[in-house]
Amino acid sequence: MLLLEDVHKTIKKKEIIKGISFSINQGEVLGFLGPNGAGKSTTLRMIVGLSKPTKGRIEVCGESITKNYVNAMSKVGCIIEGPDLYNYMSGNDNLNMLAAMNKDVSKVDIKRAVELVGMQNRLNDKVATYSLGMKQRLGLAQALIHHPKLLILDEPTNGLDPAGINEFRHIIKNLSKKEGIAVLISSHLISEVELMCDKVAIIKDGTILKYSLVSDLLSTQEIFWAVDNNEKALALLQETFNITGKIVKDKIEAAIDVSMLPEINASFLKGGLRLKFVDNKHKTLEDLFLDITEGANIIK
Ligand SMILES: Nc1ncnc2c1ncn2[C@@H]1O[C@H](COP(=O)(O)OP(=O)(O)OP(=O)(O)O)[C@@H](O)[C@H]1O
Ligand SMILES: [Mg+2]
Repeated sequence: MLLLEDVHKTIKKKEIIKGISFSINQGEVLGFLGPNGAGKSTTLRMIVGLSKPTKGRIEVCGESITKNYVNAMSKVGCIIEGPDLYNYMSGNDNLNMLAAMNKDVSKVDIKRAVELVGMQNRLNDKVATYSLGMKQRLGLAQALIHHPKLLILDEPTNGLDPAGINEFRHIIKNLSKKEGIAVLISSHLISEVELMCDKVAIIKDGTILKYSLVSDLLSTQEIFWAVDNNEKALALLQETFNITGKIVKDKIEAAIDVSMLPEINASFLKGGLRLKFVDNKHKTLEDLFLDITEGANIIK
């Protein structure tokens, strides 16, 4: 649904985006996670055609956004820099006005978009009376009105309270899993990405430092072993499992896929080591994020 390949962006002689690549498949939610100033909005603006990459390829459903802008954009819905709403009009009138600008959008499409975001009840009230969460939902309905295959959302939960974030998360999950829409969400909230996204791309200083499935990130854990011969244990880890560990205080330590732990322990015992204890420092996505970005400022 979305492909970025070696995308660069230079603004005023400064390289802001330094060759990033990632992709999103149908029904997948990708969290684009990074500290302030990392280059998230700059990247999203290029994907929706608000600015041009200096170099590289961006494709939506196989169509280049630079060569085939109209076609590519017809498949994209987005909220960048907050939803575009008229406060003095009702939610319904906001949607009708947007629909009037697009000849392919009918009343049925509006009704469907409203149902997808669960806005049926307050549609006739003025937007000025809406809470931030409802405005965000109306913005989402606007983005969905033309049946996009890809949604691009720049920090959509900024300012929402925990209940609002939770509601928003359920709407996004429903859109991706039931409607098959691919979603790209930028965020600096780790907990949000952990709960809402299938994949994560961690960006800092215009470079992607980590790109993987959220479940894979979480299954990697830092394990400690206390054994009677550290050197022998390290050599075993390296030779048998190709894992490089290190000695920390009087224990050995390595980051492994937890599903390998029983096998590693068995091999220690088979190798004649006495295993005193094994422990794991549970790695949350936040620990990993901080490791990866070396302590860049991030809000939990
Ligand atoms: N038009 C511009 N001119 C000069 N510098 C820019 C311009 N747009 C963005 N930048 C710089 O590019 C970098 C990345 O900005 P960007 O807005 O993409 O970050 P972000 O990841 O969205 O951050 P935030 O979490 O604060 O929204 C920043 O250092 C910013 O100052
Ligand atoms: Mg931004």
